[in-house]
Amino acid sequence: MCGIVGYTGGRQAAPVILDGLTKLEYRGYDSAGIAVSNKSGNIDIVKAKGKLQVLCKVTHNGENLDGFCGIGHTRWATHGEPSENNAHPHCNEDNTIVAVHNGIIENYVPLKEKLIRRGYKFYSETDTEVATKLVDYYYKKYNDPLRALTEFALHARGSYALAVLYKDYPGEIFAIRKDSPMVVGYTDGGAYLASDVPAILKYTRNVYYTDNYEISRLSANGVKFYNLDREETEKQPSVITWDAEAAEKGGFEHFMLKEIHEQPDVVRNTLNCFVRDGEIDFGELNLSDEDFKNFDSVIITGCGSAYHVGVVAQYVIEDLARIPVRVEIASEYRYRNPVLTGKELLVVISQSGETADSLAALREMSAKGIKSLAVVNVVGSSIARAADAVFYTKAGPEISVATTKAYSAQLIAVYLLALKLAKVRKTITENRYKGFLKELATLPEKISGILGNKSEIQKFASEMMDRKDVFFIGRGIDYATCIESSLKLKEISYIHSEAYAAGELKHGTISLIENGTLVLGILTQNSLVEKTISNLKETESRGAYVAVLATEDVAGIPANFRKLFSLPGVDGHFSASIAVVVMQLFAYFLSVLRGNDVDKPRNLAKSVTVE
Ligand code: F6R
Repeated sequence: MCGIVGYTGGRQAAPVILDGLTKLEYRGYDSAGIAVSNKSGNIDIVKAKGKLQVLCKVTHNGENLDGFCGIGHTRWATHGEPSENNAHPHCNEDNTIVAVHNGIIENYVPLKEKLIRRGYKFYSETDTEVATKLVDYYYKKYNDPLRALTEFALHARGSYALAVLYKDYPGEIFAIRKDSPMVVGYTDGGAYLASDVPAILKYTRNVYYTDNYEISRLSANGVKFYNLDREETEKQPSVITWDAEAAEKGGFEHFMLKEIHEQPDVVRNTLNCFVRDGEIDFGELNLSDEDFKNFDSVIITGCGSAYHVGVVAQYVIEDLARIPVRVEIASEYRYRNPVLTGKELLVVISQSGETADSLAALREMSAKGIKSLAVVNVVGSSIARAADAVFYTKAGPEISVATTKAYSAQLIAVYLLALKLAKVRKTITENRYKGFLKELATLPEKISGILGNKSEIQKFASEMMDRKDVFFIGRGIDYATCIESSLKLKEISYIHSEAYAAGELKHGTISLIENGTLVLGILTQNSLVEKTISNLKETESRGAYVAVLATEDVAGIPANFRKLFSLPGVDGHFSASIAVVVMQLFAYFLSVLRGNDVDKPRNLAKSVTVE
């Protein structure tokens, strides 16, 4: 998983490219590199291990590199350790073909062996060097820059967004993609290429989302597209409506904190787009009421936090719409041989729309004829394009690696799906339906209330900062909130934690409770709180320090339990939306207090486009 940027036009290329790469560091940040065609027609390459800043320093923010056409890359290692040698761009032997790549070439080993047999030598451990030399091989064979890329596509297996500079074609960038994102932008005097829109938003709002196996050819005069037969194709541009500010930190210390604070707006925006005049309007979804009536079950899949949204959805949809729901981890589901009736609705949840396992699970199911709905945040992403219908969450670009606002927007999507199914299938009355929609409209204000009192959570975090283990327990939807809370804590604070269905702890794991172990109980489900309180007491009697996150109307909480926060009252179906905000802040403050890199936690990257 990496970020790529390309530029050709009237400006000095390197500063534009480096500036674009800073917006893509969420895609990878263990090394970076840049290649620019200089005034004498040669291609200069500079690479540096470590964060992008190192490369910026070495090149004086790109000022040291002459030239008006170039490509750059920020890397998250897949093949070969993070090092200058393995960093992109990669080049052929005489430095006349230079490439950057995002994705994985699955058959790079046999390709490399074949190239070695033809006399090629390799200096790095990367699949990208193989890709570059494969392009070189076919370029030398056919003397055609487009043919070299189509041959590459015919021979390489896997995922790629590949951008190439040919010395013979100064001022031009050639690119091809398959299953890795690539967007192409243009202005009067130049053309841009990037893995994601924020990288080029400062320069242009006019973009093309490129398709699998489509070749883009960029020059200062404009952009052309070709298919695998090397025929020029027509393509519709899109206009980006995001505010450039939305991709910046906007005054907060970290993107994560900014994104946590954007949640009231995100929830409101997502609701406003799909609820009109007290009615859910799924007009843009390409699914009819008839479809919703005919599904006999719902299968939800995703990874990490997106999977956790599915767990919430399972409780809400089954309860309201009385239709069987299964939630499946995408990396498992893609290799399963499920028993299907053919009348299932597959819901794939993904912020990035590029997660390899989720995409593969979707493809497996589509091949079996199952109708799919993608809940995706990134417009034009691979999952959005592969699904039959798309619910675009309106979270805007999410930069922090740990998801917060996209998770919240996904929750809204699944609540609306539950209500839509319930209404069409007549499992709730019109009055209840209207009541639920009204209740949803109160969420932004309730979330704002929590954000306004975040110092309480900060104080609690400062008292807990030395804990080694934390257990989150709850039942029903509170259990679903626990698994997300635990993931948030682990990924950014690096504190070990477990999430357990409260009743399950005593079946083994309770042996890990020691004097002072923090056990956090989530109590928002009225019919289940007594049971969870009993489970909390069981841990307390084994030495746990118990704290609870409960809605204000929950009674019977023992006086000696620490109250982490009192949540505003909310219908139990939607309580995850407010409880999770407290837990996001708890994880955030612990991460800050422990001096971690909040937005870029170790070993993680924003979108996981590899298996
Ligand atoms: C956790 C987190 C990840 C993602 C997961 C799926 O904070 O961000 O667990 O939720 O990698 O990513 P998407 O939603 O892009 O498919």
